[in-house]
Amino acid sequence: MAGSSDSRILVTGALGQIGTELVEALRRNNGNNSVIATDLRKIDGHPVINSGPFHIADVLDKAALEELVINNSINEIYHLAAILSATGEKNPELCERVNIGGLANVLEIAKKHNIRVFSPSSIAVFGPDCPSIAPQVTPLNPTTMYGRTKVAGEEMANYYHQIHGVDIRGIRYPGLISWKAPPGGGTTDYAVEIFHQAIEKKEYTCFVRPDTMLPMMYMDDAIRATLELMNVPSKCLGPARSGYNISGISFTAEELSNSISERIPDFVCNFVPDIRQQYADSWPNSIDDSDARKEWNWSPKYDLDQLVDEMLSNLY
Ligand code: NAD
Ligand code: SER
Repeated sequence: MAGSSDSRILVTGALGQIGTELVEALRRNNGNNSVIATDLRKIDGHPVINSGPFHIADVLDKAALEELVINNSINEIYHLAAILSATGEKNPELCERVNIGGLANVLEIAKKHNIRVFSPSSIAVFGPDCPSIAPQVTPLNPTTMYGRTKVAGEEMANYYHQIHGVDIRGIRYPGLISWKAPPGGGTTDYAVEIFHQAIEKKEYTCFVRPDTMLPMMYMDDAIRATLELMNVPSKCLGPARSGYNISGISFTAEELSNSISERIPDFVCNFVPDIRQQYADSWPNSIDDSDARKEWNWSPKYDLDQLVDEMLSNLY
């Protein structure tokens, strides 16, 4: 079980926006040497590399991944390696290969070695036909390649759970807002970039319209949700287990900008939408997370004011 003294954990994509904070939390709970961080790239001085074991590993290299699993007696994988929405639309072939191929390798290894898996999904599974408050169960018709890979990922995860008994769990993360590591090429990156630019230049050119409202979440809530989901007994989880809706905060880009202006009065935000507006427009405004609340007591803590205060105080 996560958090128990016998957890031997491998994290893929560990140097990314989520991995930077998830590895820190997993090492705090399980001990530094029980958490093997991996990524395709190496960043000198990165806290994940400095605080415990780190290996370069491409999730498309199944043999190398399996060797790491065997050599380190791994019994739990947090599979974070992926290509996000905006980068994915620039290179859909890479997005499909990494997101689907990488997960397929992880699931095969998990089946063979009896490994528990956490694999994130995303609000990008929803498409323009989704109600503005996205239900847990609704037709999934995403317009982006990234969204399609996430729908396929949830289906693959369900298959490995139902047919092979793999204990796999996932969350449809909202756009995540954090200060410890930069976001990795998503549509919701504006909600992080705005803080950095507000502090450094007192000005930001936002790539979505002011009225764009998306489901968002402060990283602390997302990390807590991940650990809480992984700690619930498997029998408590229903059919949403590979992609739970979880809700944090929904706000428009203008509301975010106004909230920053209340704290930095000379901050100016300009709105110049680019192609990412289309991806944002295809996603819902907010999320119905009743299944997660009911099955594993999910509840977010951060509202917009708390999030803005946290971001500014940590970045200043
Ligand atoms: P990120 O882009 O910040 O990090 C991904 C990491 O994966 C990077 O460090 C990258 O080097 C690595 N990577 C890419 N290709 C790889 C490969 N072939 N082999 C090994 N590593 C590879 O992404 P993130 O924000 O940390 O997202 C992690 C997961 O959470 C992804 O599945 C993503 O779809 C999902 N998610 C993120 C958000 C968000 O807002 N950050 C929202 C919803 C879902
Ligand atoms: N934050 C992610 C993105 O914008 C959503 O999965 O791609």
